Amino acid sequence: ANNLKGRDFIEMDDFTPDEIQYLIDLAIEIKHKQKSGEVYQPLKGKTIGLIFEKSSTRTRVSFEVGAFQLGAHALFLSKNDIQLGRGEIISDTAQVLSRYLDGMMIRTFGHDNVIDLARYATVPVINGLSDLAHPCQVLADYQTVYEHKGKLKGLKLAYIGDGNNMAHSLMIGGAKLGVHVSVATPEGYEPDASVVKECLEIARETGAQIVVTRSPQDAVKDADVIYTDVWASMGFEEEQKIREAAFKDYQVDEQLVQGAKSDYLFMHCLPAHRGEEVSEGVIDGVNSVIFDQAENRLHAQKALMAALMG
Ligand code: CP
Ligand code: NVA
Repeated sequence: ANNLKGRDFIEMDDFTPDEIQYLIDLAIEIKHKQKSGEVYQPLKGKTIGLIFEKSSTRTRVSFEVGAFQLGAHALFLSKNDIQLGRGEIISDTAQVLSRYLDGMMIRTFGHDNVIDLARYATVPVINGLSDLAHPCQVLADYQTVYEHKGKLKGLKLAYIGDGNNMAHSLMIGGAKLGVHVSVATPEGYEPDASVVKECLEIARETGAQIVVTRSPQDAVKDADVIYTDVWASMGFEEEQKIREAAFKDYQVDEQLVQGAKSDYLFMHCLPAHRGEEVSEGVIDGVNSVIFDQAENRLHAQKALMAALMG
């Protein structure tokens, strides 16, 4: 089932539905191994470089710990501490690092940086978040939904807020897996039109319904999952005030969640701004699975590294 060896992971559309399900199953298996104390080191002696142009808590720690647990060594490469930050071009960086490393992860602003790194690298490149996409998060998220609901196909996920990297990867992942995704955003903050178009095409094959609306109430109606993210992503901090005004009717609060199924899951990639995109009662309530998501970053990325670099 696994012909993922040597491939890149830049967005959810790099993999077929079967390959995504394979990775989810592998992540669950690896999670059980770790929890039962079994040592599993398919990447013994290998190395992965982690290039960061933006801050990170979860991504950095889960990749470093995950690599270590698989027997590999991870190198944290802050963009400003490598020559990339002084203008060394990505293609040279990619070719040099490929001579040392067995894989690379990059977190960056421009999505083109990820694409360029992958084009010139001869080892697998993993997108650890760009302005356009956050597929590692979404792999862990659909694993989390699968663990809680026992299935994915036919479920409904409502995403409320900014049509950002999270919205994009959740939509593409949902379209691939047959999860209906309804995205509610204020005017001017819609997901990328090209991403929506692609999702509609993918969904034709899988039966997923992909909807973009202004109405949070419509989006959450009968939802199995309610997902939100910060209103001002990394790189948009100076728009915080404008965005607070634009998004004021888009908070996921106790009233909004009434429209969802009673056993809905509340999800957030974190970090969160309590009292902005989500009320304290909802994020800290019984339906919230935010820490399961965060934990699954470790297991999902271990599966990913094992499959691509093993
Ligand atoms: N969710 C996520 O990617 O978190 P970090 O920014 O802390 O890595
Ligand atoms: N949309 C957020 C996600 C952080 C994990 C950002 O890009 O900052």
